[in-house]
Amino acid sequence: MRNFEAITNAIFGKLMNRKNYWETIYETKSIQEFSWYQAVPETSLDIMLELNLPLNAKIIDIGGGDSFLVDELLSRGYSNLTVLDISSAALHRAQQRLGKDAEKVQWICSDMVEFQPSERYDFWHDRAAFHFLTDPVEIHHYRQLTAAAVAPSGVMFVGTFSEIGPLKCSGIPIQQYSKESLAALFQEAFTPLRCFTTDHPTPFGTIQNFSCCVLQRNEL
Ligand SMILES: C[S@@+](CC[C@H](N)C(=O)[O-])C[C@H]1O[C@@H](n2cnc3c(N)ncnc32)[C@H](O)[C@@H]1O
Repeated sequence: MRNFEAITNAIFGKLMNRKNYWETIYETKSIQEFSWYQAVPETSLDIMLELNLPLNAKIIDIGGGDSFLVDELLSRGYSNLTVLDISSAALHRAQQRLGKDAEKVQWICSDMVEFQPSERYDFWHDRAAFHFLTDPVEIHHYRQLTAAAVAPSGVMFVGTFSEIGPLKCSGIPIQQYSKESLAALFQEAFTPLRCFTTDHPTPFGTIQNFSCCVLQRNEL
């Protein structure tokens, strides 16, 4: 019993630390100070264009932070958007920027490993969030989550630092993936449509190499 309590406390402590860390980042830094900043998230938008997603597609951005993806999708007429992030400060920043348009979006403040979706999504977007999960138990949990939460024939885009990319993001150790290892990780429930690597130029003039996979949920 004491063991069980110790494990529960350790997990709770880890989740709280993670949240506090990200809240501090979003409370103290401006968007141009973030290595992951993109004025226009072109790679993600190109993929969505390629997929020809209908305007009423259910789209979720996991670890969306205060990314401009939601602004771009709203301006293109997408009407069923959800942004999830561990940091309420991040979501608040995006909401402030969008003003009245923020009401058109569903905002979920949650750790992705605690997220219990009540619906299935046609497009699951995760750029530079999943790679923060380094514990095999949490990685396994994320695989199960995506298998359950992406609709049959729905699509997931996942982008992580590649094996030649950085080892840390925002000071936190991350899990690197090659495009092959990323596709292999999700192969039980998803079929790769396209996997590639891409260089992200940071606002500080450095380059971060990403592995990206566009994966289609298999029919049940
Ligand atoms: C590197 S930033 C990327 C932000 C955004 N996806 C983009 O591409 O601009 C990582 C984001 O993931 C969020 N995050 C980190 N760990 C998370 C977790 N366990 N659950 C939910 N969000 C998380 C952070 O708050 C942050 O907004």
